[in-house]
Amino acid sequence: MSFDRSVKIAPSILSADFANFGAECEAIEAQGADWVHVDVMDGRFVPNITFGPATCAAIRPHIKGVMDVHLMITPVDPFISAFADAGADVITAHVEAGPHIHRTLQAIRGAGARAGVALNPGTPAEAVSSLLDMVDLVCVMTVNPGFGGQKFIHSQVDKVRQLRTMIGDRPVHIEIDGGVDPATAPLVAQAGADVLVAGSAVFRGGSVRDPAPYGANIKAIREAASGTYV
Ligand code: DX5
Ligand code: ZN
Repeated sequence: MSFDRSVKIAPSILSADFANFGAECEAIEAQGADWVHVDVMDGRFVPNITFGPATCAAIRPHIKGVMDVHLMITPVDPFISAFADAGADVITAHVEAGPHIHRTLQAIRGAGARAGVALNPGTPAEAVSSLLDMVDLVCVMTVNPGFGGQKFIHSQVDKVRQLRTMIGDRPVHIEIDGGVDPATAPLVAQAGADVLVAGSAVFRGGSVRDPAPYGANIKAIREAASGTYV
């Protein structure tokens, strides 16, 4: 996977039809999604439970592009190989998930996936300053993790700007996760983000039987991010 900082839209299947994940992944890719964002939650790191490696393995054949797995779990290390074996292209762990994030990131790359590190809204950018040469992605949470459809936390835009400076010309993506829509997308894109996760703003108004709204929603977010939204 070559590196470029063009805007990528990564719909989160947390907002998809849980009874039709495979078809939903095919639908969002057909409607223009660049990555598929998979929100794994354990009910301990976050107050919600979603799915695990088996679901990732089941949807993998239905995803042509990048399967971007966001682990909102603790501990992380015992499960890394299961998600890598399930076909995750990117595995992102939270810097808050335990005392040994350096070892976790080594293990993710060791398992053959690209490594991401995520920061909750209460965690400063400095928390990842010593990790920037061992990650492929930094994920800035713009909501408190656990649920879709929450309000974007505007204070995180400065953190994006700060991270963009810290990263410099390293091949490291800045991913935004939570409350992304055509109104908030320009704020984070201008601050230096290039991967925009969006759940409710992509899936709203559509369905597996009528996926056209997915395409219109993705297009609106992409155009807003690149400043061409009319
Ligand atoms: C929240 C998840 C996000 C969420 C985004 O814990 O990590 O990926 O699904 O959903 P929206 O775009 O609806 O805020
Ligand atoms: Zn997520």
